[in-house]
Amino acid sequence: MGNSKSATVFADETQYRYEAPGPYDSRSPCPALNTLANHGYLPRDGKNIRPEVLQIVLQEKMGLSWIAAKSIIGQAYKTVGKNGLLSLSDLSYHAPDSIEHDASLSRLDAALCNNQQGNFNQQRFNTFLSFSKDGKCLTTNDVAAARLHFKVDSKANNPEFLWNKNIEKAMWTEASILLHILGKHGRISIENAKLFFEDETFPRGWQKHSSFGVRQLHSATKALKNAAHEQKKQQRINGENA
Ligand code: HEM
Repeated sequence: MGNSKSATVFADETQYRYEAPGPYDSRSPCPALNTLANHGYLPRDGKNIRPEVLQIVLQEKMGLSWIAAKSIIGQAYKTVGKNGLLSLSDLSYHAPDSIEHDASLSRLDAALCNNQQGNFNQQRFNTFLSFSKDGKCLTTNDVAAARLHFKVDSKANNPEFLWNKNIEKAMWTEASILLHILGKHGRISIENAKLFFEDETFPRGWQKHSSFGVRQLHSATKALKNAAHEQKKQQRINGENA
């Protein structure tokens, strides 16, 4: 399985049923990669993954364009690859150049959880969900507000808060792919967000994006940043701490 897959193999869905990870399986701070391993698109043990395997899976299963997939994968192997291989738990590496960062939507900051930043945190995720204005969906505005909130919160409460320009960029990129690849057209239902983050499985009836490329990523990220900008402006007008 895992490392010997090709795109055509994905057609047989019966091979890709959900199985919860066992105690020795490797998992990451990324709900998408964990989902792919729970379904066997990536090796179910989450270990020793070659970049070519991730490339095929991100393109053929998730709908990322070649270049969008290539750039995330390049960054991952550059920072945590070992002899050209990567295990999912390696992605918990926390440093100025790592993909993992503080102020996440569903994980606690490394310094505030004894370096368990790879693990899902229910309370944190519930706070994220509480940003939904209608209690049914998370929209671009809701996710922008949550991202701003967690950043301000970490800055105030984490003495080892680690932040830089690349992290800022990654934070918006992740949120964009959440809203456009797992969700649709800039929103995700609460029900589907729960399936994805809590159970690390695919949303109901989910289908891959037709092609999420650099241009789509750019405009999705811009929409989120604009929403955040408007909210900060509003908070300043209201005299709140933005
Ligand atoms: C379509 C593909 C992908 C989707 C939909 C996706 C989605 C996400 C989301 C929504 C988060 C935020 C989790 C949170 O804030 O709690 C995240 C985090 C993360 N992702 Fe992915 N991801 C994808 C691909 C990848 C790839 C290819 C890598 C690396 C090989 C990766 C590595 C990470 C890491 C290290 C984090 C943790 C960042 C943090 O500390 O919050 N992801 N991903």
